[in-house]
Amino acid sequence: MKKEVVFLVFLLCSFVSCNRSEPVSDFDFVASQLKYAIKQIDAQEKGSTPVSNPRSENPDGSLHMVPSGDWTSGFFPGELWYMYAATSDDYWKEEAMRRTEILEKEKKNGTTHDMGFKMYCSYGNGYRYTRDSTYKNILLESARTLVTRFNEKVGCIRSWDHNKDKWQFPVIIDNMMNLELLFWAFHVTHDSIFWHVAVSHANTTLKNHFRSDNSSYHVVDYDPETGEVLNRHTHQGYSHESAWARGQAWGLYGYIVCFRETGDPAYLTQAKRIAEYIFTNPNLPEDLIPYWDYNAPNIPNEPRDVSAAAITLSALYELAVCDFQNYDKHKELADRLLENLKAYRAHVGKDQGFLLLHSTGSKPHDSEVDVPLVYADYYYLEALLRKKNFEERGVIH
Ligand code: GLY
Repeated sequence: MKKEVVFLVFLLCSFVSCNRSEPVSDFDFVASQLKYAIKQIDAQEKGSTPVSNPRSENPDGSLHMVPSGDWTSGFFPGELWYMYAATSDDYWKEEAMRRTEILEKEKKNGTTHDMGFKMYCSYGNGYRYTRDSTYKNILLESARTLVTRFNEKVGCIRSWDHNKDKWQFPVIIDNMMNLELLFWAFHVTHDSIFWHVAVSHANTTLKNHFRSDNSSYHVVDYDPETGEVLNRHTHQGYSHESAWARGQAWGLYGYIVCFRETGDPAYLTQAKRIAEYIFTNPNLPEDLIPYWDYNAPNIPNEPRDVSAAAITLSALYELAVCDFQNYDKHKELADRLLENLKAYRAHVGKDQGFLLLHSTGSKPHDSEVDVPLVYADYYYLEALLRKKNFEERGVIH
């Protein structure tokens, strides 16, 4: 090749690489979006003390911030802790601390089961990466508060206090996600109450929440006096008998955590059954990103729920190490899903700094349909970190 031609090719390559609008690696993409999100939040807070964290975009495209009592308030600080873990850069640690400490008062909030989501994603990750004893004490108090919602007769933690006209003692499949905080509290204190509540909740849910095809109901309502199942309902799914996509993902993730923490093979079996349900479902699109409900009536003209895909993705990386005999199968599926999620990414420097678009909060309530949601981003980033940890160090945590 002539010298001039080589030079021209070199110039062209340099031009293309300088003008590439997408950052190169997954973590570069996340870092640039989260830095942009922080800028947007700072602009909104105008130097006042932070009291809320991002959840989604409002219909007008502005940032939807929520106070500490919202079930999603811990995810954004959790993302910042994961970036600190991925980079060891103190910038992320300082931002994470700022956004975590907004939640402290939730340690006493016994009016909701969402303690694990709120406190384990924020303070839990904070404690994991800093070993700060203040964080540890806040987490322990949170776990004690969560235990107050346990009913021995039912064998479960009560989920919601709202809609008292519909349910007496509602337990939702999402509640499996709060058990990790209790297992952590047991390991730290050796107080058997935490173990008892977590295991009892997992076993009761195993018995009553699943159908014969291994899909789960969303809400199981119990008689708090006798423990008898009164009803099996939905709240965010299409119908009582349908399979709400995010609910399947919560169940999968929750039972993998229970297996990791207890070693009980029944939990691993359940997790594998849920994964089988998801990945053999005829209504799962080829790119593995589910519609908001596996039985939504107008598939394929239904919104997707990227949050369900992201939760499933992170769970799959852990399933791969828990079910090591089938490691290749789970890992290959997870890597494929991760790759497919690239098509759902937010635009760099836009979308209020969220990472993923096209999630669905609650279609029946016409709430947060086809929007970015902070929990989709949290589990997506968690999955990236799990993959990185496993590939670099042979462990996912
Ligand atoms: N835990 C609430 C939800 O998944 O929407």
